[in-house]
Amino acid sequence: MTTPIASLQPLEPDAAQLREWLALANTYALDHLDGLAAAPSSNTEGAAQVVARIAAEPLPAAGRPLAEVLTALDPAIRASFTTAGPGYLAYIPGGGIPTAAIADLIACVTNRFVNVDIAAPGLAEIERTTLRWLAELMGMPKGSNGVFTSGGSLSNLAALVSAREQQLGEDFTGGTLYYSEDTHACVAKAAKVAGFPKAALRVVPVDTRRRMQADALAAMIDADRANGLRPFFVCANAGTTNTGAIDPLGDILDIARARGLWAHVDGAYGGLFRIADGGDALLPRLGEFDSLTLDPHKCLFLPYGTGALLMKDPEALRVAHATTASYLQDVTHGEALGFTDYSPELSRDFRGLRVWLPFLVHGVDAFRAQLTEKLALSRWAHERLAAEPLFEIFDPPQLSVLAFSARPPAGHRLDANAFSAEVMRRVNDRKRVFMSSTSIAGRYLIRICVVSFRTHEDRVRDAVEGLIEEARKLAGEA
Ligand SMILES: Cc1ncc(COP(=O)(O)O)c(C=O)c1O
Repeated sequence: MTTPIASLQPLEPDAAQLREWLALANTYALDHLDGLAAAPSSNTEGAAQVVARIAAEPLPAAGRPLAEVLTALDPAIRASFTTAGPGYLAYIPGGGIPTAAIADLIACVTNRFVNVDIAAPGLAEIERTTLRWLAELMGMPKGSNGVFTSGGSLSNLAALVSAREQQLGEDFTGGTLYYSEDTHACVAKAAKVAGFPKAALRVVPVDTRRRMQADALAAMIDADRANGLRPFFVCANAGTTNTGAIDPLGDILDIARARGLWAHVDGAYGGLFRIADGGDALLPRLGEFDSLTLDPHKCLFLPYGTGALLMKDPEALRVAHATTASYLQDVTHGEALGFTDYSPELSRDFRGLRVWLPFLVHGVDAFRAQLTEKLALSRWAHERLAAEPLFEIFDPPQLSVLAFSARPPAGHRLDANAFSAEVMRRVNDRKRVFMSSTSIAGRYLIRICVVSFRTHEDRVRDAVEGLIEEARKLAGEA
């Protein structure tokens, strides 16, 4: 017997109940933000118990008070990397500007369907206009547009599929694609999902600063073509994940143009630095590429799940993705449906609102100032560490990533890699900052990635001075 509906917690709460719930959520959010600066930068030590408690929870037949549910949720939020906090310098930091949360609340409550124009024309235009603004900020020509995605992985996939369709048609046998050694793994994943075998992938070597070697790219394309293959796509990096390296964009563009390849830039991490003061000099000719991946959930400080793909000729996206269906005849009217024609998705969240609303509320200059500050902070960190004999810089920051190692004194019990790892561990254990590492040619490198809008000089100073202190201490230990 099912329980009569009237005796259940109603899915549509009355106004008083809803007000109470929103107040609880408000208090939760405000308390969380209030505690963020003092929160540990990572806090996963007790996570196993949290995981076990959550996994043991049986499917609830009946509801319980929201306050209780929030109390159950809170330990899981706490037992994590504090990705939205000021001390998060690991991987590529996440954002979470509060205006984006307000946008999400409104988007979820109103729950409009934005992927089909006719269902919400003004809202679809909000996304189209915001994408146009992004294209303008990136220096792309008039007419450029694209689609909001869940992130860089999906943007790179949609770009690759568009290029495949335009350059190779339905039979893409023999198609080859090119990217540097330090390209994000999602590009190889995109190639796999798009149906390319491993033999189609060409990994172009990098120089000592981890930038693609353009002459090697040209030679590889020419050799493949001479062998009867069909080179069609090159992906340049506007900031690699590893070290923030910027591939030689102009050279890559010229090589692709001269040989008729589709030129794509993965700017998921770094592309948005073009907004910073001096950004156009850092990322020359960015706007000339056929397609560009951006991650507003990185350098526009928005919540995860906010990616964008921009294209000089958005028609290529449409040709690659558009389909028809009889059940959509009422909304088609013989024309394009809307964003769904430009993407693998049909139903999706109104993610463009969390870009548009913050742009309107803060203005783009607020983002420009933040990004300019992040570049300056990583340069400051570089100068400070470069002056310390116990540290060796891998490469001065090309954007806001600094990669370096700590150097043990001669005869130390730890080798260089173990010494660096131990120094980073000790600083991370202080819980003021959280850094991650990478490894290049067998060398362990500590990475500081300054991207969060909450990270300012005090926190970068904590990281750098902490590293120096711990390195000195460790160097003095027998
Ligand atoms: C350069 C680069 N490309 C692609 C990605 C993948 O993006 P996403 O995690 O948004 O799918 C990342 C993620 O860090 C990245 O740094």
